[in-house]
Amino acid sequence: MKIAVLPGDGIGTEIVAQAVKVLEALDLNLEMEHALVGGAAFEAHGHPLPESTLKLAKESDAILFGAVGDWKYDKLDRPLRPEQAILGLRKNLGLFANFRPAICYEELVGASSLKPELVSGLDILIIRELTGDIYFGQPRGRRVSPDGAFAGADEAFDTMRYTRPEVERIARVAFEAARKRSKRVTSVDKANVLETFQFWKDIVIEVHKDYPDIALDHMYVDNAAMQLVKEPKRFDVVVTGNMFGDILSDEASMLTGSIGMLPSASLNTKNQGLYEPSHGSAPDIAGQGIANPLATILSAAMMLRFSLNQSEAADRIEAAVKTVLAQGLRTADIHSPGTQKVSTAQMGQAVIKALA
Ligand code: IPM
Ligand code: MG
Repeated sequence: MKIAVLPGDGIGTEIVAQAVKVLEALDLNLEMEHALVGGAAFEAHGHPLPESTLKLAKESDAILFGAVGDWKYDKLDRPLRPEQAILGLRKNLGLFANFRPAICYEELVGASSLKPELVSGLDILIIRELTGDIYFGQPRGRRVSPDGAFAGADEAFDTMRYTRPEVERIARVAFEAARKRSKRVTSVDKANVLETFQFWKDIVIEVHKDYPDIALDHMYVDNAAMQLVKEPKRFDVVVTGNMFGDILSDEASMLTGSIGMLPSASLNTKNQGLYEPSHGSAPDIAGQGIANPLATILSAAMMLRFSLNQSEAADRIEAAVKTVLAQGLRTADIHSPGTQKVSTAQMGQAVIKALA
């Protein structure tokens, strides 16, 4: 089983190092090969997604990814920005199905910005379509380096676009996932305004005919954003497009106490997957050893379960994370009075100890 390890930028290197140690502690005979990606790859090779990194990713069973990006690259031409690395990996490997579970651990109920009764027991699965939508539609207008201005241009646009097969396959993923949970799917759209999302909604309704055992409802994205903080437990599986899923998953992460707790899996049709925390590179706290490695460690668990067929090992990691939380260990983002503040590395060590 070959894993491409792509730590990336900012806190990416610190959190991925901990997840790698946890994987090593499981003694599963995993072959892990590291490569540069994002700003780190740009510095070394002049491109955020070098050929060699893409090749390694393609020939691996799974990819463990940290995070990319730093404000210092904001003035680069779009194709050279660190974010293009993750978008390129998603597109090149066809990783269309993005799973972002938002689970509120009982021990962290108090860390959420919402009232405990609203989030206690929360378990939502956001399924975000990841290779279509406005992220990959045709753009117009290009900011010109080095001054960072749209020299002379008087408009810029991006194109929101979905094809029928793209919507059909993500709808199926959502209905299949719901079968293993509480059999409810909420499809989030903006059909009241956007043609692309009326199309989305119509196709989701069509595909639903094959899943009569699943309850389907539809919600406009603005309302969904409101309901997520008003009554989050009304949701179970949420399926939506790339852009809305990006926004709603950040919102949902805060229900769980911290975005530092939210793992993710991005799968293609061959169950090859890229696993990454849902958070970014957080350059403001990089290098301080205070980032929360749990989202990445939990992403490694998802990798074992979905791409490597090692669900027992995945269960062990998830149980170990619950143990360290129950022991009162907290990184700064989830720390509260009465708990013990630990560093990134201490948290990783504690998870390894709890595995036993
Ligand atoms: C995410 C991130 C990415 C996205 C960025 C880094 C390109 O925000 O994975 O949610 O917008 O998809
Ligand atoms: Mg995002």
